[in-house]
Amino acid sequence: MHDDRIPAGLDLFAAIEALKAERNAVVLAHYYQEGDIQDVADFVGDSLGLSRKAAETDCEVIVFAGVHFMAEVAKIVNPDKTVVLPDLNAGCSLADSTPTGAFKAFLDERPDHKVVSYINCTAEVKALSDVICTSSNAVDVVNLFPPDQPLIFAPDRNLGRYVMEQTGRDMVLWNGSCQVHEVFSEKKLMQLRMRHPDAVVVAHPECEPHILRHAEHIGSTTSLLNYVRTSPLKTFIVLTEAGILHQMKKAAPDKELIAAPPEGNCACNECPHMRLNTLEKLYLALRDLTPVIEVPDAVREAALRPLTRMLALDLGAA
Ligand code: 13P
Ligand code: SF4
Repeated sequence: MHDDRIPAGLDLFAAIEALKAERNAVVLAHYYQEGDIQDVADFVGDSLGLSRKAAETDCEVIVFAGVHFMAEVAKIVNPDKTVVLPDLNAGCSLADSTPTGAFKAFLDERPDHKVVSYINCTAEVKALSDVICTSSNAVDVVNLFPPDQPLIFAPDRNLGRYVMEQTGRDMVLWNGSCQVHEVFSEKKLMQLRMRHPDAVVVAHPECEPHILRHAEHIGSTTSLLNYVRTSPLKTFIVLTEAGILHQMKKAAPDKELIAAPPEGNCACNECPHMRLNTLEKLYLALRDLTPVIEVPDAVREAALRPLTRMLALDLGAA
């Protein structure tokens, strides 16, 4: 349905390019955005790459085509810049699983533990953490701590379990999960493998352990993209949000890419939060410089410390 705030017949792609120059704006997009948004973005990446780009930019305005916690990161590292998110309701089930009060009580019960938080959490939860990680560098970040240091890992229990397996260390896990990466069906995956015996399975570590055990390669979205691009093999079954296939097709047009099916007959391998952003909303965000992301100063300063700790590490650059 046409949005009355947008002139009829407007070429959105051209209008967005003109506004980017006029506003001195950069558009950063996550791989889980719809294809058109990825195509107008100045940079498309995973959470780590996007955080780095946000920290580096000279532009006055950052349009963050992703979800709320990602735009918050851009604001935390750029308090003097304007950060807009095309749809302010673009949240995340992982960030939602970690209410600040309950998380603080959980930490208070374990005062001897250091806290490693996955970037998919609110600024308030980051402010309570010792270091932030992403799916690109979680194993390396955990390995920075001496083996006898008790650790809490939050909020993704699946990534936490994967990191425990990779590092061989025990951690206390917060019980959160990604609603998209938990929908994949093992039965349908096995059926797909039978139909495509030469296919390689690649998976994001937010998937559940019974899914990950079928994967030949596990990694962040950038890592999965690079694996598909550089592999000599031809067919891939991809277990992550289906938006990544847009970049995979561009990077490896000769390869056969199969988005792994969810349990039900739904499009739930598309993140409903990420997909709230549209090209129309992105145009409006650039034109009207709203909705803006604000983070209260005290939270921002406390969240910046563990975030800077991660960004200063030369780890996990895919
Ligand atoms: P990465 O961007 O680290 O691959 O994580 C995927 C994700 O779920 C982001 O919300
Ligand atoms: Fe959050 Fe999962 Fe959506 Fe990523 S894909 S934003 S982790 S709900």
